Amino acid sequence: MKIGLLGIGTVGTGVYEIINGEKGNYFANTEEKVHITKVLVRDIHKNRKTQIPSEIMTDNFDDIINDDEIEAIIFVMGGMEPEYSYMLKAIERKKHIITANKAIVSEYLDVLLKKAEENNVMFLFEASVGGGIPIITSLKETLKINRIDEIKGILNGTTNFILSKMAGEGKDFGEVLKTAQELGFAEADPTADVDGYDVSRKLSILSSLAFGSHIKDEDIYKRGIRDVTKADMEMFSDLGYVLKFIAHSKLENGEYCASVEPILLSSKNIMSNVNEEYNIVSIHGNIIGELQFYGKGAGKNATANAVVGDLLYIINNEYRKEDIHLKNKVISRGIDKFSGKYYLRVDVSNHDQFSQVIDLIDSYSKFKKMMVNKDRIFVVTEEINANVFNELTATLKEKGNKLFYARIE
Ligand SMILES: NC(=O)c1ccc[n+]([C@@H]2O[C@H](COP(=O)([O-])OP(=O)(O)OC[C@H]3O[C@@H](n4cnc5c(N)ncnc54)[C@H](OP(=O)(O)O)[C@@H]3O)[C@@H](O)[C@H]2O)c1
Repeated sequence: MKIGLLGIGTVGTGVYEIINGEKGNYFANTEEKVHITKVLVRDIHKNRKTQIPSEIMTDNFDDIINDDEIEAIIFVMGGMEPEYSYMLKAIERKKHIITANKAIVSEYLDVLLKKAEENNVMFLFEASVGGGIPIITSLKETLKINRIDEIKGILNGTTNFILSKMAGEGKDFGEVLKTAQELGFAEADPTADVDGYDVSRKLSILSSLAFGSHIKDEDIYKRGIRDVTKADMEMFSDLGYVLKFIAHSKLENGEYCASVEPILLSSKNIMSNVNEEYNIVSIHGNIIGELQFYGKGAGKNATANAVVGDLLYIINNEYRKEDIHLKNKVISRGIDKFSGKYYLRVDVSNHDQFSQVIDLIDSYSKFKKMMVNKDRIFVVTEEINANVFNELTATLKEKGNKLFYARIE
């Protein structure tokens, strides 16, 4: 089987080494030759860590799409275009496609699934969520018997690294972010990670498969972790909680809620003990109950392993019609079905402001606990609906108060 590889950066290099470098068991032992015969890059003259024969490198997609011997194309370039247009062309030319690109899968899952089915080819995207964790394959298998009504997890290694280090080393957000950038765990522009866009795309893909309807990224509520401070972390530890950046979606009677936000978990919760770059995903099925999947969420080898797993699925199954259907009608209810006690920290600068803040909080929820430390008020509320609580924090922010809050689960 001849394969086209689009992109040979972090993930593409891993894929190339497993297949052509025969690092992968199957490729080292098979009689049948499975080979990457063409590699697309932007710059064919760039120095690369892995030696690639120059005759298989190209900067022209037509060399790959017009090669009738290539049966499958692996897409590991990144960004929306030209990758999405190339995917459509590849499917039209009856080539199987495999991708790690969560932005494209989250936005165009319905279009790509339909087009692949019409053209009798496979469209597989295991590596787009959870790196090395085989969550998509497991989700598809679980769905054959179960209705899945809830997904929860830690799906971003960068933010998990930041929160783990803040908790473990007593450092501030900015300081840990800088270390993460120096170590290559965080991008120079960390927005996609710390503000929840990366996680939200992954949650959109998992929820779409689980709920049988295309759940768009824009319908997922997102709130990042930039405002958490060292003082908050010390308070969580005293209260017996651990802060995690949690993706959560649930479906009830055709209505769903989906969010990505910082959540406080009991220190005994399994997810509290998932640290640094590791990810965890929990799914709930009506028959199987709760299932959890744990592993490395990104990186060269973990992601390449998932990509090549999809390729082996194609090799072993020839063409098999996928069982994924996105035909259910479900309605978004924002975050209205989420509720709980909340932790809230508000910074105050004088006595008047202190009284106003206390009165305002009190008008929304009774306190279960209140602590005051110099110019900060820390409150744990009674159970309150997520939308109502957000109204309170929006009012506090309008009045110029600096704050951080998280629901306790
Ligand atoms: N890195 C991870 O841990 C990880 C984890 C999960 C999913 N992913 C996804 O996997 C994909 C690849 O990520 P990566 O980290 O491997 O990216 P990367 O290191 O930036 O590599 C991108 C590769 O694609 C090529 N490329 C980019 N745009 C191109 C264009 N317009 N035409 C031709 N070639 C182009 C680049 O060519 P040049 O080398 O010539 O510049 C490079 O070889 C992304 O969709 C990403 O979201 C990555």
